[in-house]
Amino acid sequence: MIHLVTPVELDAMRTVGRMMADLLNACCDQVRPGVTTGEIDSFARAFLKTLGDGSAESGCLGYHGYPGALCISVNEEVIHGIPGARVLQHGDIVSLDVCGSYHGFFGDNTRTVVVGGAETLTADTRRLLRVTRQSLEKAVLAIRPGVHLSDISHLVEKTVAEGGCSVVREFTGHGVGRHLHEDPPVPNYGKPGRGPILHEGMTLAIEPMVNLGKAAVRTCSDGWTVVSRDGLPTAHFEYTVAVLKDGAEILTPWFERDPWSSDWMKE
Ligand code: MF3
Ligand code: CO
Repeated sequence: MIHLVTPVELDAMRTVGRMMADLLNACCDQVRPGVTTGEIDSFARAFLKTLGDGSAESGCLGYHGYPGALCISVNEEVIHGIPGARVLQHGDIVSLDVCGSYHGFFGDNTRTVVVGGAETLTADTRRLLRVTRQSLEKAVLAIRPGVHLSDISHLVEKTVAEGGCSVVREFTGHGVGRHLHEDPPVPNYGKPGRGPILHEGMTLAIEPMVNLGKAAVRTCSDGWTVVSRDGLPTAHFEYTVAVLKDGAEILTPWFERDPWSSDWMKE
């Protein structure tokens, strides 16, 4: 069942969305050569306590036994990388996926950032980041009431394919609200004109996961970390959005600190 938020619930989603975006951006600011992913996890746990009245909780920690406060996935790691002893190196690309709840509502958002600055990127990884981010931003711009959900999915897939990259098919975006994962699933591929029609009041996590090489992924022996099968780099960007009368409102506005015009976005 797809839940539609009331105006009061929408405000609560804005509040938690803003918190999760602030947490994500603060974690991204910790990314530098020599830092461990475990140190970023500790930072996130401490930062969570400073938000609002102090009752914000990680949506990752304890989720089906997941041990981290956020997911940190490096290079060929697509999603669900577990923070730990890994030391970030100059030139790594790192996806930070931050989700959590406050006063009963969830927000979910992700950025992929470069360790040591955009000049360390190869032409291919630069294209990967640009294409993934473009696919998310285009999807958000296309969201409005009356559109089929699969039109959005198709647009993501098309944008990614035109950029010479591959969409991961095993994992999808999702509805988000009183629970982290709600209906409907939001695939990053599909034929247009199918599935549910978007309505005002839907709140969705839109999250293209994109591989530079082939689409295939596998889960590592830790039971969580998902990697590209061909070992090539992969990227992930995510917003929680609300479908409103005139289009989507981004509820997790991390873009304020990572503008669309970032240097790696340029062709
Ligand atoms: N933020 C992730 C998502 O979109 C959820 C991570 S849950 C975890 O679904 F347990 F893997 F951390
Ligand atoms: Co999500």
